[in-house]
Amino acid sequence: MKPKMILKISVDVGMTIALLFLMTYELVGQAAHEWLGIGMFILFVAHHILNRKWSRNLLKGYYTPLRIWQTLLVVLVLLCMAGSMVSGVILSRHVLSFLPISSGRSLARSLHMISAYWGFVLMSLHLGLHWSMMMAMARKAFPNASSVRTWALRILAVGIAAYGVYAFIERDIAGYMFLRIQFVFFDFEEPLIFFLLDYVAAMGLFVFAGHYFAELLKCCSRKRKSV
Ligand code: HEM
Repeated sequence: MKPKMILKISVDVGMTIALLFLMTYELVGQAAHEWLGIGMFILFVAHHILNRKWSRNLLKGYYTPLRIWQTLLVVLVLLCMAGSMVSGVILSRHVLSFLPISSGRSLARSLHMISAYWGFVLMSLHLGLHWSMMMAMARKAFPNASSVRTWALRILAVGIAAYGVYAFIERDIAGYMFLRIQFVFFDFEEPLIFFLLDYVAAMGLFVFAGHYFAELLKCCSRKRKSV
């Protein structure tokens, strides 16, 4: 594998882990959350620099339904990331508390909540869009995978997605996305791993949905071409 590809994958893995830990907010500590947020910003910039060829070609070529969906997701993720960062800087109580910002906290709090939870869902869908690429790499690394293993992994994916539906409802993620709940509930008695596993499953649900929606769009494009 080329070094650039290794770097790209490392940045993507880093962003996925950072996102999961960012969602735990106070469970990892307020200051740690802010440092993680700043780390996420650096990784996000690196992700865009490493994928700059995609951005350069934005105005070129034909837009298939899949490309429209992909571009829409990128724009929405960008907005969520900008929303999380700007509001995070305003709300900072530790790392950036020296900045002379004293107003706009109430608006920033709502913006932070919407951007963080919509960002979580949209980034997971975006990950799902590129899932087939990751599976192709896994196939290359393990060329002799048996069909039993393939089916076992598929069943596992369905299981994770199904539990993800439960976790999404149980943690009331939609409540935060639509600001039905103004303050996030964190149970400090709960071990961090349980919180993380629920969010991994919720992420898995949207990766699953993103992957199969992209496959559907690919299928539609192929059919249209053959007509
Ligand atoms: C992608 C980046 C980020 C994500 C996904 C994220 C996620 C979250 C989540 C889930 C919460 C708890 C819910 C809430 O109160 O809104 C939260 C709260 C908070 N975050 Fe972030 N965050 C990000 C970046 C940042 C950054 C860069 C900072 C500051 C440097 C920051 C500072 C804060 C603060 C101060 C709170 C508490 C807000 C309050 O008082 O209600 N966050 N964040």
